[in-house]
This record gives sequence, C-alpha cells and structure tokens, in this order.
Amino acid sequence: MILKKIRNKIDIIDAEILKLLKLRVELAKEVYKVKRALNRPLVDRQRENEILTRIREEASKIGMDPMLTLKIFKGIIRLCHESQRKLTTVSPGHKEALNREATLKTSPPQRVTLNLTTVKTSETVGEDGLLKDSEFLREAKLMVVGAGRIGKFIVKFFRGKVKEITLISRNPSKAERLAKQFNVNYSIDYSYASQANLIIMAIPPHNLAEVASRLRGFLKPGTIIVDTSSVKKGVVESVLSILPNHIEYVSIHPLFNPARIRSFKGLTVVVIPVKGERAWRLIAEVFKDAGLKVVISKPEEHDRVMSVVQVAHHLAYLAYALTAYELLNPRELHEYRTRILQYTLTVLGKLKDNLEVIKTIQELNTYGNEAKIKLLENMKQLSRISDENWTRLREALSKLS
Ligand SMILES: NC(=O)c1ccc[n+]([C@@H]2O[C@H](COP(=O)([O-])OP(=O)(O)OC[C@H]3O[C@@H](n4cnc5c(N)ncnc54)[C@H](OP(=O)(O)O)[C@@H]3O)[C@@H](O)[C@H]2O)c1
Repeated sequence: MILKKIRNKIDIIDAEILKLLKLRVELAKEVYKVKRALNRPLVDRQRENEILTRIREEASKIGMDPMLTLKIFKGIIRLCHESQRKLTTVSPGHKEALNREATLKTSPPQRVTLNLTTVKTSETVGEDGLLKDSEFLREAKLMVVGAGRIGKFIVKFFRGKVKEITLISRNPSKAERLAKQFNVNYSIDYSYASQANLIIMAIPPHNLAEVASRLRGFLKPGTIIVDTSSVKKGVVESVLSILPNHIEYVSIHPLFNPARIRSFKGLTVVVIPVKGERAWRLIAEVFKDAGLKVVISKPEEHDRVMSVVQVAHHLAYLAYALTAYELLNPRELHEYRTRILQYTLTVLGKLKDNLEVIKTIQELNTYGNEAKIKLLENMKQLSRISDENWTRLREALSKLS
C-alpha cells in the first residue's frame, strides 16, 4: 500500500517533468524564431555553458550527483536543438546551417592524415576563374582583422608570402602605427573585404560571428576565411552559418603566445578544415613550409583535447596563484622559493599576460566543465593520502613524463 502511494507520487512527478520539458521545448522554438528573424547564430555555446555550470552548482548544493544531473540536462538541450531542427518553416540558409551543425556534431572525431604532397602546384587560374593553389598565396590580398597579439603575428608571418597585406583595426591610430612598423596597409573599413581573397580574423571568439556578419556582404567568390580562435566548437558552426556559400573557410589555432616567440620552428598550429579542400591545404602548407608542426583536427576533437591542455592546466596554475597569495605575502614566497617554484612563477607571469584569452577559454570550451570537475575530484582524492591514490599517480607520472 505504501509502495503504491509512493509510486503514484512518482507518476505525478514524471507527468509534471514531461509537461515542463514540453514547455522548455516550446520556448526553445521561440528562441529559434527570434534568432532567425535577427539573423543571429543558432547555437550559443556561451549560454549553454552558463546553463550547465548553474545546473551543476545547484545540483551539488541540493545533494544531487552533479555529473549525472549534467548528463540529463545535456540531453534536454539536445532535445531542444532537435525540435528547432524540425521546424518546418526554416529558410534555406538556416536549414543549411542547421544541417551543417548536425554534421559537425555527429561526425565521429577523426584524425585526418596530412598528405600535403597531393597539393597541386602547377595550376594558376582554373576554369572557374579562381586563382589556384601555389599562385593563390603569391597573388593574395590578405586582410587581417584585429591588431592584437595574434593579428600582429599573422602580419609578421605572412609578410613576403602574399602580394599585399591590409591590417584592419577599430583603432585608427593603433592601425596606422602598426602598419608603419610592419610596412603594410591599414584601414578601419570592413568594405576592404571586397578586394581581399584571404581574410584572417584574429579576434576574440565571441566577436567572430558579429565580424563575419559585417564582412558577409563584401565577400567575393573563392575568398578564403580563416579564424584563429582558441575555442572551436560552437564558434566554427556560428561563423559557418553566417558566411555565404561561395567562400572557403578554415579554422586555425596557433598553440603558442606569439608575444614571446623568436622563431617559428618547433611551434604547433592546429588546422581545422571547415569548408573547401583548397583552403585548409594552402594554410596547412604555408605553416608547414615555415617549419611549424601542423595538426589537422575537428572542432570537437580540438576542444576535447584543449579542455585538458588549456582549461584544466590553466585552472590548476591559477588556483595555486590564489592559494599562495592568500596564505603568504609575496615577499615570503619569493624569499623561500625553490627552483621548481621559480619555474611556476615564470609560468604564472606568462598566464598573467594572457588572462583575457585564458578567461574566454575557461568560459567557452564546451568540454571544459568535465575537465574542471575531474581536476577538482583528483585534488580532493590526492589530498587524502592513500597507497591506492599514489600508485595511480605514479603510473600517470611515469606515462606522461
Ligand atoms: N594570445 C594567445 O596566446 C592566443 C593563441 C592562439 C589563439 N588565440 C586566439 O586568437 C584570437 C586573438 O587573440 P589575441 O591574443 O590576439 O587577442 P588580443 O591581443 O586581445 O587582440 C584581439 C583583437 O581583436 C580585436 N577585437 C576585439 N573585439 C573586437 C570586435 N568586437 N570587433 C572587431 N575586432 C575586435 C581588437 O583589435 P583592434 O583593437 O585592433 O580592433 C583586439 O586587439 C582569439 O580568438 C584567441 O582566442 C590567442
């Protein structure tokens, strides 16, 4: 009898959950319609991350398993995406964008073998009138959007490799100063995109969609668009959904802070083919020729790996910085510093110079939460000394180092 009563209550709750899910799906459809009307990107990873972070924190507070709860909510978000996809009134452009998102989401991560020997080198102008392969770079008019660290690196890197470089900045005096320094053109006008055939957007990930929208109307067929964002999933899909069909798009991630490099040799750049075979091969080849290591990847694979390489890694260092600062005064820390602490302080100095980019990666990497949770779990476990934990640790250290 008691069991039956409890089960009745569970049935009522399940029915309520179902109604609430239906309500959430309807609201997601409303969001979709508003975004479509405003021509806004369909997927907003930042918003999704915020929701998932809030859910995880609230689940922990009320004694629910945060990881399992997260899984359920990720499923709910998928359900909402699915309902948006099924909307029958989608415009052809948005339908295509949704399909591309679906393809990007469902394709299993795969490592593409880079076979640059297959790149053609002899052709110049093809039947379609577009400059081909090797000629493309030599004749390219490169537009670099953003005069920050990566923008400057791109200008330095491509100087002498392309016909003409124009640096676009929102700040005319900064643009003029840098253009003089590097002996390139400058502008504050996005309409220069109509003359360019290679455009590299070296700007923060959350501004890419807006800048892509502003460039959109000026892009001529065959133009290659490149972004340099440190986060790919969500960002690449948004940019792709905005760009016109007649362009090619490749996403890259230089795995270094360009402010501190002296030579390109030994550096790594990740190249993510998005649209057009020629674009990613050209970009991969130009970096490879300059002595950089090129890793070909996909948005999901890139972000999954970077959630460990960057998100958890940075967080561990930053949490240590706060701990040291709050427990000791800086003078004490320096007076008693060991050689290995000196190394850590050097790393912290590098992180300090790049804090905004690091914060954005912490916010936007969709795999970041899982890596952070794992890091916190391991810290908690290791703080309780046990032979089992230390055996695990020894094994990890011997495999990693
Ligand atoms: N720093 C690194 O170590 C590193 C490494 C690999 C990849 N990345 C990625 O590369 C990109 C640029 O990073 P960064 O280090 O060069 O950053 P940064 O030094 O802060 O420069 C970013 C530049 O983007 C431009 N910008 C900012 N908001 C904009 C907006 N709303 N519209 C148009 N332009 C805007 C600004 O240029 P103007 O003021 O000239 O307009 C700014 O100087 C980011 O996506 C980052 O994730 C960074």
